[in-house]
Amino acid sequence: MPDATARAGANVALVKYWGKRDEERNLPAVGSISITLGDLVATARVRVGDTGAARFLGGGEVVSGTAADRMAAYLDWLGPQLGTNERLTTEVEATFPVGAGLASSAAIHCAVAVAAASALGACVDRSRLSRLARVGSGSAARSIYGGWVEWHRGERDDGEDSGATQLLGEDTWPLAMVVAIVHDGPKEVPSRDAMRHVARTSALYAAWIEAQPDDLAAMRTAIAARDLTAVGTIAEENCLRMHAITFAARPPVLYWAPATLAAMEAVRGLRTRGCEAYFTIDAGPQVKVLCSPQNVDTVAETMAAVPGVVRTLRSTLGGGAEVLEGPTPWK
Ligand code: PMV
Repeated sequence: MPDATARAGANVALVKYWGKRDEERNLPAVGSISITLGDLVATARVRVGDTGAARFLGGGEVVSGTAADRMAAYLDWLGPQLGTNERLTTEVEATFPVGAGLASSAAIHCAVAVAAASALGACVDRSRLSRLARVGSGSAARSIYGGWVEWHRGERDDGEDSGATQLLGEDTWPLAMVVAIVHDGPKEVPSRDAMRHVARTSALYAAWIEAQPDDLAAMRTAIAARDLTAVGTIAEENCLRMHAITFAARPPVLYWAPATLAAMEAVRGLRTRGCEAYFTIDAGPQVKVLCSPQNVDTVAETMAAVPGVVRTLRSTLGGGAEVLEGPTPWK
């Protein structure tokens, strides 16, 4: 039975994806820009044609519930896309907490798509793998590339123009990220459900869609200029706008814990003391802080001292998805 193993890094959006124009294909209502992390990584092994094995193992345990159903549906969709009707099963491991708003689903679905292509001996370039990963979890489209990555909204109904491209390699402009973990458990409202609810009920959703192209353009310019102040300022504004639209949903979706706000204040405090650092927050209470590598110790110590922060993780920017065992699907 053929099998292969691949690895992909989590990614953190600095201009966020929030809202879908097509739920089934995970086509986004807006474009987004992220960084890929080198130290928060998921590994997936995909096996072809094993009819006895569980469909989805995570950390050595059989996964059940919604996550298992979603993965089984994804594997059933992915196989025929890569030219097989045989049953695919997968086993994943992550170096960081899963389902806590740390982009684990992005890293996992990207690693699964790459491992499946490798196990099947398929010849698929990164651009197509990005679109295949996207169907598993929207943000997975970005984990295929390292460094600074843009996922394009696209216009087409079939989604063939909605994949990621790399804006800047991971080694071109070294930066670091500190993740302040406020809560280790699973998030309360999955982003998929929250996006649907917010799009339907938030009075601010239309304004979010309208503002996004300007943030994307400004972020591209800031990245090209390696301007950390501009990148960080746009990232904070975009993050707060995304959370503002969730607060304005009916009923509201509130991802923050008290320590989330305390951590944001601590980041502002760092800046007043001359240490450049900027926060962003996804569909969970954790606060992710972007800074220069030379400030990473100061930032990590400051975040660890915030009341309610359980622990911190650190990461540099990482490379694109890789095959660890098996043939590489791209040239
Ligand atoms: O791809 P999903 O369904 O996990 O949604 C990700 C949504 C955010 O993390 C909040 C934003 C983003 O662009 O990653």
